[in-house]
Amino acid sequence: MSAPIILPSILAADFSQLGEELRSVANADRIHVDIMDGHFVPNLSFGADVTATVNTITDQHLDVHLMIENPGKWVEDFAKAGADTIVFHVEAVADQEAALALAAKIRDLGVKAGFSVKPGTPIEPWLDKLAHFDEVLVMTVEPGFGGQKFMPEMLEKVRKLRKAIDNAGLDTLIEIDGGVDENTIGEGARAGCDAFVAGSAVFKQSDRAAMVEKLREQATV
Ligand code: DX5
Ligand code: ZN
Repeated sequence: MSAPIILPSILAADFSQLGEELRSVANADRIHVDIMDGHFVPNLSFGADVTATVNTITDQHLDVHLMIENPGKWVEDFAKAGADTIVFHVEAVADQEAALALAAKIRDLGVKAGFSVKPGTPIEPWLDKLAHFDEVLVMTVEPGFGGQKFMPEMLEKVRKLRKAIDNAGLDTLIEIDGGVDENTIGEGARAGCDAFVAGSAVFKQSDRAAMVEKLREQATV
């Protein structure tokens, strides 16, 4: 398997010094950008303007996680802001047909397309639709807040995705998000995950680069 992809989530960063915070994780593979609207999840974060600012500070791939209602309304704004991947929640679109259409729209904007599932959402209906997506983001906490406890039972979804992706010969990435730290990341990697979001585990450290490296080592299976 290829090298693990580590994505610090800037939700846990100190926004009074965003430039410094981003530079402290320059050795990470991608940056995870959490967008919350106070409706789809009970929390607010920031929008396309802050994403565009992040994009001026770093050259890293921006993985934008839309935890918002009506995601289709916003994808152009995030594409313009510099998103490299846009992930929307399947619970926020009308049905599967709408999800596939939105993925196509995101790809048409020249951006990689991903979908995410909350802990209560089954993965089975999506297993034969993975060619339409570049990434699947499996939530390992209820979306909305950083610093929550990892839900290991979600790795069953990762195992099913791994099998389906390998059987179909696809290169869709499997990412986990929520409660990922040096103790939980190995289990995720062994389940077949490619990419790992870590917010508080990275930004609560004084040496963030060392933690990124440690996570990468722990995720190398
Ligand atoms: C949660 C967000 C996560 C969050 C992860 O709703 O999607 O990306 O930043 O934070 P930690 O790693 O602290 O669980
Ligand atoms: Zn996220």
